[in-house]
Amino acid sequence: MTRAVEARAQVSCRLAAPGPDLAAHHRVRHQVFVTEQQIFVHGDRDDRDDDPATLHVLGLVDGEPAGTVRLYPLDDGPEPTRWQGDRLAVLAAHRTSGLGGPLVRFAVATAGALGGATMLAHVQQANERFFVRLGWTSLGNEDYVGRPHVRMEIALSAP
Ligand SMILES: CC(C)(COP(=O)(O)OP(=O)(O)OC[C@H]1O[C@@H](n2cnc3c(N)ncnc32)[C@H](O)[C@@H]1OP(=O)(O)O)[C@@H](O)C(=O)NCCC(=O)NCCS
Repeated sequence: MTRAVEARAQVSCRLAAPGPDLAAHHRVRHQVFVTEQQIFVHGDRDDRDDDPATLHVLGLVDGEPAGTVRLYPLDDGPEPTRWQGDRLAVLAAHRTSGLGGPLVRFAVATAGALGGATMLAHVQQANERFFVRLGWTSLGNEDYVGRPHVRMEIALSAP
């Protein structure tokens, strides 16, 4: 008797290098936040994208660009302790492939490795449980980009 075995997609995350990686990062964000969710009308890029302290992450499913997250320090100075994570997105066709969780963990681990103590995020209410399962704590409801969100945080640690 033969049994069908469903192959699990290979997911990975890396800092987006300038050039094709960064272009793919922005394409995914545009697809999710502008075209799909219509949170932003023309584009979702902002001043944070031009700040050299901002780190852009690209997620891949079977080697293809499929997800993003962005992180940046909230404090000025050489050793920032508070970091913000945002622009978490997985292309609709790749959701539930197991990329969203690794993207969040990659952002948390990266900020922790850089000496961060806390990461904050504005989380869409529909995703609060997803973040709680990843160890985040809810701080309260808020309005953000005109939509209901939850302010959430997680403690960071060095590797
Ligand atoms: C939220 C998002 C990034 C999750 O990405 P994903 O690749 O589907 O997530 P994963 O496959 O890693 O999910 C991990 C687990 O969380 C669960 N999960 C995913 N989204 C969830 C949600 N909104 N609420 C509760 N659980 C969720 C999955 O079912 C999976 O469960 P399992 O481990 O039991 O199989 C994705 O749905 C997305 O891009 N949404 C549109 C953009 C968006 O909302 N961004 C976040 C703004 S705060």
